[in-house]
Amino acid sequence: MGKKRWKLGQKTALLMAVLMLEGSCLGAAAGMLRFGGRENGGWENRRGDYSARHQMAVYDAAAKANAESPGKVVALTFDDGPHETYTALLLDGLKERGVKATFFLMGQSIEGKEELVRRMQQEGHLIGNHSYQHIQLTKAGEGTVCEAVERTEEIIEGITGERPRYLRPPYGDWNENLECQLDMTTVFWSIDSLDWKLKNTEKIVENVEKKVRDGDIILMHDIFSTSVEAALELVDRLEKKGYQFVTVEELIIE
Ligand code: NI
Repeated sequence: MGKKRWKLGQKTALLMAVLMLEGSCLGAAAGMLRFGGRENGGWENRRGDYSARHQMAVYDAAAKANAESPGKVVALTFDDGPHETYTALLLDGLKERGVKATFFLMGQSIEGKEELVRRMQQEGHLIGNHSYQHIQLTKAGEGTVCEAVERTEEIIEGITGERPRYLRPPYGDWNENLECQLDMTTVFWSIDSLDWKLKNTEKIVENVEKKVRDGDIILMHDIFSTSVEAALELVDRLEKKGYQFVTVEELIIE
């Protein structure tokens, strides 16, 4: 089955679909746009002034509805890994199901797990950058941010031969001042699985299943066994409902 690619008509598309929660992601309140596209106030789309380098395309329900493609797509994204045990299990499960996902790796977690990173690449997953440590980037200062992101870029490039082009800031904490420093596309999420809080496979699955819509980017963490079990269960359940799983790059056209 051919994978869907959404034509958003932007040379460089920056997806900033943010589910606001827990007081995170509030770094860039200025210029915030709110769309009423989802019930229950789930969606927030932030727009900063990214000047010439980045243009932003807001990925919304209307764009999806107009796309000439059958079926529905979602992107599973995993932050904070790799984890020696759980990432390996996840990769096994995804491979078994022929599903591609996106991994935002934390630089400091990579050492000793280079083989897992190589596997991600070989098995067709998209590898992104989640900074070096889990710090709030808007509080760290530009120099520190660039260093933390760059360090992770180099570590990943050293393993895969490719520099990640997508960045997910820890906590979704970001603002346009940071954007000026880095030529990367910042990717947030539209559904927080709350796996980090629930730590219960069935509850995580239910939480995502009741919210999921075509085009969603689902935030999970491949550092907990319950998250990995839930992710694989979600693949099985959502595939039965007609969803295909794609990487975030396949949701964003450059
Ligand atoms: Ni994180």
